Amino acid sequence: MSQFPIVIAVCTSMSCVKSGAETIMLHLQQQLGIGLNETTADGRFRLEEIKCFDACSAAPTARIGEAYYRQLTPEKLDQLLDKFRRLPM
Ligand code: FES
Repeated sequence: MSQFPIVIAVCTSMSCVKSGAETIMLHLQQQLGIGLNETTADGRFRLEEIKCFDACSAAPTARIGEAYYRQLTPEKLDQLLDKFRRLPM
């Protein structure tokens, strides 16, 4: 089974929203050029929402592929996107 599109699911529950989930979501939309529940034209990334998975103390959070990422910032996301953009399709 293909690992693409890589699903980036941003937590949009209360603690994450209070800690900047909206900034994270907007940053991803700008970087990827897609909206929520859309897939990039090259089929590499898909952007979704996820509900709280109990990592609220490390908000804002997201799941990317199979892994969970905590205390996200736009800078951290850019590093992660770079890493995932280098994966061969
Ligand atoms: S509110 Fe996002 S992990 Fe709990």
